[in-house]
Amino acid sequence: MYEQIFGKYAPKKENLIYILHEIQDHHPQQYISEEAIGVVAEYLSISTSHIQGVITFYTMFSTKPRGKNIIRLCESPPCFLKGSETILRQLRELLHVKIGETTADGLFTLELCACLGVCGNAPVMMVNEDVYGDLTAAKVENIIASYREGGER
Ligand code: FES
Repeated sequence: MYEQIFGKYAPKKENLIYILHEIQDHHPQQYISEEAIGVVAEYLSISTSHIQGVITFYTMFSTKPRGKNIIRLCESPPCFLKGSETILRQLRELLHVKIGETTADGLFTLELCACLGVCGNAPVMMVNEDVYGDLTAAKVENIIASYREGGER
């Protein structure tokens, strides 16, 4: 996997974010392992602590194994005012997880995120690359059910 990814990017520090994205996307559990950090550090000739810092700074990166589907619920003020708290409670109950946790079947990880840029449709969440707005309890239930059935990403 690393050779394939490194083949696309020159060993330059400015390619770090792209490389980390690819590594995370390629991992079946959508995270960046300690081993991966070491390999990238060597390839780019930078320290592992620098990479750790970058991973910590960007919320889209994770160093913990995650589920097949990543749910990101927007917690910024416009979504909050439109009831994201209620949606969060519902998601926690439906999935039996807390924020940052993965369901026992490995299907979902629940995360929070900042504004997704579609505040006009608040409250909003993403599941993997798909954005869902104007969320209601019924809508959330249907969305989760569709991923459980289809298991698509
Ligand atoms: S505040 Fe939630 S999408 Fe902008």
